[in-house]
Formats: sequence, structure tokens, C-alpha cells
Amino acid sequence: MNSVKIITIVGARPQFVKAAAVSRAVAEFNRKETPITLNECIVHTGQHYDENMSKVFFDQLHIPRPDVNLKVGSGPHGRQTGAILEKLETVLTETKPDWVLIYGDTNSTLAGVLTAVKLHIPVAHVEAGLRSYNRRMPEEINRIVADRLSTLLLCPTPTAVSNLAEEGITEGVHNVGDVMYDSVLFNAELAREKSDIMQTLKLQPDSYYLATIHRAENTDDPDRLNSIGQAFEQIDMPIILPIHPRTRKTLGTACAEIAPNVRIIEPVAYLDMLTLEANARIILTDSGGVQKEAYWFEKPCVTLRDETEWVELVQAGCNRVVGADTQKIVAAVGEFEQAGCLLPADRPTDLYGDGHSAEKIVALLK
Ligand code: UD1
Ligand code: UDP
Repeated sequence: MNSVKIITIVGARPQFVKAAAVSRAVAEFNRKETPITLNECIVHTGQHYDENMSKVFFDQLHIPRPDVNLKVGSGPHGRQTGAILEKLETVLTETKPDWVLIYGDTNSTLAGVLTAVKLHIPVAHVEAGLRSYNRRMPEEINRIVADRLSTLLLCPTPTAVSNLAEEGITEGVHNVGDVMYDSVLFNAELAREKSDIMQTLKLQPDSYYLATIHRAENTDDPDRLNSIGQAFEQIDMPIILPIHPRTRKTLGTACAEIAPNVRIIEPVAYLDMLTLEANARIILTDSGGVQKEAYWFEKPCVTLRDETEWVELVQAGCNRVVGADTQKIVAAVGEFEQAGCLLPADRPTDLYGDGHSAEKIVALLK
């Protein structure tokens, strides 16, 4: 029997959500009687390491335990990326995989692609082709490099395909849809059954907004963080804010005064997050994944960034990109409220594929 060896590299929270869908599809593929077996090994770089940023996702999403944990931890970009490069080189040299599978645009993605291509191992990049056209974002640098060096470019949207075409990248490019949609479809019902976060937080559906903030451009700029904080204060609604550890660190100094309507909670597990999203009135976020999850749960989204990679959400009227401007944030919320917090009835509902992205990825890797 032929075996295809795949090394999956993950390290940050959104990568666990994405890899869960593909690992499940790999297991399903192996259950079928085919002459090929996919042998997946998971390497966790250790970029995220708190239990509620890492282990809880492996547990809830039934991701196979990582075969290797590089335990690089936090640090400045160069040190973190360099530490992964050094440790991963040993792993890839020993395991000699047929494919290295990378996700998204984190430092773990960047180190994964660099290590693999230098060892002449082909790389498949899930979530290829996204662009913010803002090179001050570390993620933009990571994705440009990842896309340039990957053999298989697994794009979530037609926009991503055309972004790559504009850069002259057309070979190995496939629009497979968004694996995060696979994850939401698979887990939304489970979340309804298993999550008790609404009871724990004593929340009623439709009676709060949900917010997340973790982008460097917001957390590392006290003016922007304060401006967002002031907008939250002016909003006449409880705001639930599961706080990213990065933001927790800066909040203490930069934005000491939290508005009384803002309820800061620890980062929540995935099924709890889906439940909070499904029951929120409006979602305010600078997260990439959460913008799309808002759309899948039919919630208006106010994006606390100056641009978004997920431009189709804006075009469809589901998402307003307002940056950190207090007045713009408050105005966007007000407009969504005026529309009854309903998304435009004529919006397309298939912006991110058909929920079978992971199967398409597995078929291409095979
Ligand atoms: C990283 C990604 C970002 C992604 C985000 C998802 C890069 C450059 N950025 O940003 O694209 O959207 O993950 O959440 O790769 N920390 C902890 N515990 C943890 C992890 C982090 O306390 O388990 C703290 C540390 O103080 C650390 C800081 O958070 O310095 C930032 O972590 P890091 O992984 O460097 O970047 P993120 O902001 O999480
Ligand atoms: N998420 C979660 N708990 C939280 C915050 C986010 O489970 O407290 C999930 C969220 O539902 C989404 C993913 O983490 O699936 C997004 O990760 P994040 O916002 O950290 O990164 P980004 O998508 O911006 O890269």
C-alpha cells in the first residue's frame, strides 16, 4: 500500500481550528478502502501554549495529539521564527515527509514554509492568497512568503485566487473554500448541545455584543486601544470580551479604565465561542476568523481594523471596517441596530465554499 506522509505544522489558536477539519478529513479518507494511506504527523510549534489557547482546542475538536511539540513559546518575531526554524529542521530532516502542510499567516506558518523548502519538501498552504495590502502587518509578510514558496496554494475564495494571479502565481492554485466553514458546520450543533457558557455567564440570547481584540496594530498602540475602549463605553449594551493574552498584557497599562458595560472574560474554548457568536446581537472584532464566523451565524460584524482580507463580507453588506475610530465604531453599531441587526436579505450565502473544503484539500494532497 502506498503511503503519503504529511507533516502538519500548527502553533496558534486559529490554526488548531483549521487543522481540525483537515485532520478529520484525513481520518475519513483512511477509513475508505483506497490503495493510498495518508500518514499525518502533527507538529505543534508551541507558539500558543496556555491551556485555553491550545490544549482545549485539541480536546474539544478531537485533533490527534501532536507527535512533536517544539515548545518555542513567545518572543519577538525573529527569535520566535528562528527558534521554530532551527527545531523544525531536525524534525523534517528525520521524518522526510512528502508534504508539509501549513495554515494561515502566523510566524509558525512562515517558519514552516522556510524550513521545508530549504529541505526541498513541497509545501501546501491552506488559506493561500489572502492580502490586506498592509505590509506593516506581520501576517501580510508571512503570507506573501508562504504563497511565493508553496507548491499547492489552497485558496478560500475567488478573491484569493485573483490576488495570487495579480502576483503572477497561477500554478498549483485551487479555490477549495474555507476550512473554518467546515469546522463551524461540524461544531455548531455540538456547541448547542454541549456548551453551557450562556448559563455560566447568565446571558440571554440577543442581549449583548461580543468583541475580540488581539491584533498588534491595536494592542501595541495605546491610542487605538483607548479609542476602541471609548467607543465600547458609548455603546448602550453589555459587551462580552474574551481577552487574548496579548491584550490582557497591554490593557493593564494602556487602557486601565474599562467601561462598566464591558465584561472581560478569559479566552473561551471553541464550542463556547461558537455559542457566544450564535447568540450575540453584533460582533466587534479585529480577528480574521471571527469576521467569517459572524457571517456564518448571520451576525453583523464591525471590524476594528483599517482593512480586511475578507473583502467579500464588506461588499455583501455584512461587515463594516471602521478601524479604531470611536465615532465610526459607534456609528456602525447604530446602523446595524437600525437594520434590526439583520444581514442584507440579498447577501450571497456561499462566499466561502460548500463546507467540504477539507475533503478537497485531502484529495489534492493524495
Ligand atoms: C498570533 C499570530 C496572529 C494570529 C493570532 C491568533 C503571528 C505574527 N501572529 O498572534 O496572526 O491572529 O496568533 O490568536 O504569528 N501569549 C500568552 N500565552 C499564549 C500565547 C501568547 O500569554 O499561549 C502572549 C505572550 O505574551 C505573547 C503574546 O501573547 O508574547 C503574543 O503571542 P504571539 O503568538 O506572539 O502572537 P499573537 O498576538 O497571539
Ligand atoms: N476563538 C475561541 N475562543 C476565543 C477567541 C477566539 O475559540 O476566546 C476562536 C474563534 O472562534 C476562531 C478562532 O479562535 O475560530 C480565531 O482565532 P483568533 O481570533 O485568535 O485569530 P485570527 O483568526 O485573527 O488569526
